[in-house]
Amino acid sequence: MAKIYSASTTAPVNIATLKYWGKRDTKLNLPTNSSISVTLSQDDLRTHTTASASESFTRDILWLNGTEESVTGARTTACLAELRALRKKLEDSNSSLPPLSSYKLHIVSENNFPTAAGLASSAAGFAALIRAIADLYELPQSEEELSRIARQGSGSACRSLYGGYVAWEMGNKEDGSDSRAVQIATEAQWPDMRAAILVVSAKKKETSSTTGMQTTAKTSPLFKYRVEVVVPERFKQMSKAIEKKDFEVFADLTMADSNQFHAVCLDSSPPVFYMNDVSRNVISLVEKLNSLAGRIVAAYTFDAGPNAVLYYLERDESVVLGLLKAALPDLEGWQKKPAVIASVPEGISSEMYDSLKEGV
Ligand code: DP6
Repeated sequence: MAKIYSASTTAPVNIATLKYWGKRDTKLNLPTNSSISVTLSQDDLRTHTTASASESFTRDILWLNGTEESVTGARTTACLAELRALRKKLEDSNSSLPPLSSYKLHIVSENNFPTAAGLASSAAGFAALIRAIADLYELPQSEEELSRIARQGSGSACRSLYGGYVAWEMGNKEDGSDSRAVQIATEAQWPDMRAAILVVSAKKKETSSTTGMQTTAKTSPLFKYRVEVVVPERFKQMSKAIEKKDFEVFADLTMADSNQFHAVCLDSSPPVFYMNDVSRNVISLVEKLNSLAGRIVAAYTFDAGPNAVLYYLERDESVVLGLLKAALPDLEGWQKKPAVIASVPEGISSEMYDSLKEGV
């Protein structure tokens, strides 16, 4: 029996606060704008992947949540080819290394959350795939270098190689060599930041991100304004807000960018819809909470699906989650534990609080 070499890893989901939406090169997966995200903690949403290589394997196989998936798609092929080429280089410079680059791979991947429901499963999936194979191959490449490979699997995946606050700098080179992710701040640098995921629907989304963003880039007149004027400015402001731990600015930009992303989706032909009535209720509830409190207590953001992610500071956790749970008791799942008891937000009278709950 030939020896089996293997390595396992996990990669967390990241949720963009400044959205990537649009490609300037579909083959290399180069974006039309830079983006920023927050990587969620590993206890929340993550992909666990084991990569194995052996002389006895006869073909590359990938199992995702127990089902065999294609490994012949252009994106997976591009990632595997790059990783094998890096391993080959190592083997060429050190003849004592086993020739793993010539062995077929078996990859087993499991998500602990619904796949393709707009919860950034491809981000965690490709990041875990790249990290697991890089570990198996004992590659010396940095996160930044691996992020260029992960980007070719799924754009948002390049940001999941880091924890904390991450920027994907779009770059401007044609070969994509400067389009990679960098860390803006670690999770520990902003210890009181919290994120909650509100699972509005675990169904698979109707329009994939890839298809949706192509439609927007081709047909939306607002899109050009967004990528040329709005995002470059927001990118600077949001990076600074993260560095300064300025929650108000960070939260304000996060909501504005989620709304503009869904606006360009609606401005596409045919229009692309990702949010539903529950998503819109979450928006109006958070907007009312912030306006009644006279400060930004929480920020919402929605990716290519109806599920909401809220950002808030630890001191407001009971207010935010309590209010949402009271106002929207039918939400399918609460990722955030423990269950939270509603309490009255500072600056809001109990009458106002009651009317806020009833108004949704
Ligand atoms: C709305 O990274 O899934 O979540 O590169 O085609 O795989 P591909 O797209 P993907 O798009 C993510 C879109 C988004 C915004 C974001 O994560 O920045």
